[in-house]
Amino acid sequence: MHTSRRLIYGDEEALALEGMRRQAQDLVEDWEFVFLADGGQVLEQLAADGCDVLIASASLPGVAPEALFREARRRQPDGLRILMTSPSTQDRVLPCVGLLHQAFPRTSDPNQVLAMVANALRIGAGMTRFPEVKTAITTLERLPSVPKVYQELRAALEGEHATWREVGAIIQRDMGMTAKVLNLINSAFFGLQRRVESPQEAVHFLGMDVVQALVLAHGLFDQTGTLGTRRIRLEDVWEHSLRVARGARALAAMEGLSRHRASDAFMGGLLHDVGILVLAKAFPESYDRVVESCGTWQISLVEAEREAFGLSHAEVGAYLLGLWGIQGGVLEAVSLHHTPGSFRRSGFDPVLAVHIADEFSRSASQHPVWEGTTLDQPALEALGLVDCIPGWKKVLQAPGW
Ligand SMILES: [Fe+2]
Ligand SMILES: [Fe+2]
Repeated sequence: MHTSRRLIYGDEEALALEGMRRQAQDLVEDWEFVFLADGGQVLEQLAADGCDVLIASASLPGVAPEALFREARRRQPDGLRILMTSPSTQDRVLPCVGLLHQAFPRTSDPNQVLAMVANALRIGAGMTRFPEVKTAITTLERLPSVPKVYQELRAALEGEHATWREVGAIIQRDMGMTAKVLNLINSAFFGLQRRVESPQEAVHFLGMDVVQALVLAHGLFDQTGTLGTRRIRLEDVWEHSLRVARGARALAAMEGLSRHRASDAFMGGLLHDVGILVLAKAFPESYDRVVESCGTWQISLVEAEREAFGLSHAEVGAYLLGLWGIQGGVLEAVSLHHTPGSFRRSGFDPVLAVHIADEFSRSASQHPVWEGTTLDQPALEALGLVDCIPGWKKVLQAPGW
């Protein structure tokens, strides 16, 4: 096993190899870099010694990229896996979508690729104290989807008349599907110049034929629909997340945020508790004990998770989504939804919208695990927003909401 950190870069073009070689040396000093032009050699290196970062071209001769990334994940589950693609390699890319963290067009500037690597390593370094949780996140191919939403999507894709708007609207009702489709579209896989933050836009850019192939032939989404826990169900998290998403969007509109930021509030609300899915799915028995301890000791979910895992679902969700290429207001809302005061802000924003909606968007049937949250009064006081609380509460708790 290698002792220093190791990056393997596989590309059949000498120029690309040379460009990456020059830039990579500046990334970190004490790393071992391996540059190879043949897929067979990359596979040999992986089998012999694994690597912390694998960057490989989809058209590397000798071995299909799926085999390379599968081996990289087997040898080093918490390693970073990046694919370099071109329009002609789409057939080789689709089967390995679940194994990748990011994909970039081959024409990308090596600096852009390495900046993503540096960022992921920086965030990952904070996770080294929790190796089991880190591995659960880095090896996660997909998040569970709610069966009834998945069935609806399947029916729409198998029919002939569904539009991208309809398909996007179905995906947008499920956390797992939304996170995965945003991962895919923001992986730079399709060379988009700007970030896409809604599933509808993502389906529009991907095209219905690619979405059909990914969902029906390549199993992009998890259709098992279960967390494996007894004390909290996927449907509990789903119902809560949809309610918070709608509430956060309503608050954003009420406070005059732009359409773009209101969309961030909705997406942030939909994905804010995605870390619960990761922890519950990876450690179902421990997570059942976490849920139980909330009731027994009257502590919040965040406190119970910190006690059991050392970190909370907010950090876990943010690490996963960051690794999957989701950034900006959505990532901030996920990361800070329980601690909005830890980040200075100049006014009402999507983070506060999600935080407040999380606190007040309650339903009679909701799972008791959501009860322990508390509103960050100091953060609202600092912005002079305390007087708005009764108005927000009235909107979010109105009958029929
Ligand atoms: Fe939460
Ligand atoms: Fe929540």
